[in-house]
Amino acid sequence: MPVLSDGVIVLRPFVSEDADTLVAIWQDPEIQQRNTLPAALTADAAQAWVADKLRLARDGLAWEWAITDAATGELAGRRAIKELNWKDRRAVSSVFVADKFRGRRFAARSLRMAAGHAFKSGMVRVQADCEVDNTASIRSVIAAGMHHEGTLRDYFLANDGRHVTAETFSLLPADLASAPPL
Ligand SMILES: CC(C)(COP(=O)(O)OP(=O)(O)OC[C@H]1O[C@@H](n2cnc3c(N)ncnc32)[C@H](O)[C@@H]1OP(=O)(O)O)[C@@H](O)C(=O)NCCC(=O)NCCS
Repeated sequence: MPVLSDGVIVLRPFVSEDADTLVAIWQDPEIQQRNTLPAALTADAAQAWVADKLRLARDGLAWEWAITDAATGELAGRRAIKELNWKDRRAVSSVFVADKFRGRRFAARSLRMAAGHAFKSGMVRVQADCEVDNTASIRSVIAAGMHHEGTLRDYFLANDGRHVTAETFSLLPADLASAPPL
């Protein structure tokens, strides 16, 4: 897991000391609604979550980074490139950004850097599936340079039991190379 930075954010592996901040970030109902979290939002569960993310990276199944503010070192969220498919060389993006850091393009910046690492490592495509009503997520993947590919009807089973339609986007190396500065 490389440490990556664009001067505004730093992507680094999670460490067990992140547990308490993760629990605080996870209190956000938006993150609880849109992301898959441990059943109990405790420090022990966060420690196990961090250990699991490190295992996924070790096993070549996902890259899981902590997004931190380059200016302060504060933990701001999670950037993942997951479901690594080494046969077709494609992967899926996942993210959350803590409420106090939103609107500063941390999602788009982290997606660009993480996708850059994925492409250098042999991936040819990174996909993002955003719930159709998740405007912030859709805006952030478009800002990163992703292209809209279609609508996936009743694609996600949401935490409240509803099936939710998703918009699907992708980023290829040529998209990243031609993306304007953020
Ligand atoms: C979706 C999410 C990752 C976007 O992160 P971000 O770093 O704020 O993304 P950006 O800075 O690129 O902003 C995206 C858009 O949301 C808007 N926005 C959303 N919430 C905002 C806030 N609290 N403050 C300011 N802007 C906000 C931005 O203005 C921007 O729209 P624009 O392109 O029209 O300017 C973040 O809102 C989040 O974690 N949400 C809850 C969990 C979630 O949805 N995860 C993604 C699952 S697919």
